[in-house]
Amino acid sequence: MPTTLSRRTFLGAAATVAGGSLLPHSAYAAPAIRRSRVAGFAAVSSANGLRAVERAVRLMQEGTDTLDAAVEGVKIQELDPNDMSVGYGGLPNEDGVVQLDASCMHGPSRRAGAVAALEGIKTPSEIARLVLKHTNHIMLVGEGAKRFALSYGYAEEDLLTPRSRERWLRWRANRGAADDWLDVATDEPTGMRPTGTINCNVINEAGDLSSITTTSGLAWKIPGRAGDSPIVGAGQYCDNEIGAAGSTGRGESNILVCGGFLTVEHMRRGMAPTDACLETLRRVVAMTPPRLLGEDGQTDFQLTFYAVNKKGEIGAASLYPSRYAGHDGTTASIHDTASLYKGPR
Ligand code: GLY
Repeated sequence: MPTTLSRRTFLGAAATVAGGSLLPHSAYAAPAIRRSRVAGFAAVSSANGLRAVERAVRLMQEGTDTLDAAVEGVKIQELDPNDMSVGYGGLPNEDGVVQLDASCMHGPSRRAGAVAALEGIKTPSEIARLVLKHTNHIMLVGEGAKRFALSYGYAEEDLLTPRSRERWLRWRANRGAADDWLDVATDEPTGMRPTGTINCNVINEAGDLSSITTTSGLAWKIPGRAGDSPIVGAGQYCDNEIGAAGSTGRGESNILVCGGFLTVEHMRRGMAPTDACLETLRRVVAMTPPRLLGEDGQTDFQLTFYAVNKKGEIGAASLYPSRYAGHDGTTASIHDTASLYKGPR
């Protein structure tokens, strides 16, 4: 199977991002925005993506295409049974079935691919890329997505690990007082249901960008539920002339604002990546119904956006303080996000 994209379209490296930052109000600042133009390469990811940005930047420095590098980066988490938010070992839906979502965009060719509610395939990022490369479509879902993957030689496998099955059994045994299941002890924290996900956005020395997001989605979701991750413009978005952005956290709240696209549009207007992410979060809050707000008026969920612009500047912001992984072309490290709210919920 080929691992590099043919480039029907190649856009030059001319940067169009205006300089300067539109400073946000009412937000908690992250440390400085990181710059990478010395080395020419950069990547930004969710905090579980430290190995992803390391691998993606190394591959790009070896000449690998930006999307292929990003896919190889996030595959580390997809194949890691200990990451219960992505791929193999991800937490299942309410029926105990792991359903995976992923989407990606390739900046130079302006193409996109996605899969949703994909069962039995460990690496939905690769299947989303196959949709991008080999079809005239953008999204395949459910059984059709699985048959598409099998046609390319992927093996159907049980994605539940003993650990993720145990978490599901505990959830099922404690989900309601009026059901027929007998109680067993739970270690499930109350309040926020696990969401997880990995998003990764990259840029190479030529200024070409790509983005990808992959997830097992909201734990215990209604079968068939697709979150923001497989939705181009929500879970991730890439414009090769401007930048790329993506998200982790409560997908439904992101879908309402098309957050990946909106964040790139904020960068188009001249915002630095972190400021663009914060501005998108303000829109999220404005769209949040009262039932999802606490007595303090703050959201009862977490959502984080990550972004890189054409200059190779990276940043991230979340509703509540969180962390993200960044690579400036030389070093990969974990940083604090900027946040709209102070302190943990
Ligand atoms: N952001 C991941 C999800 O909501 O499924």
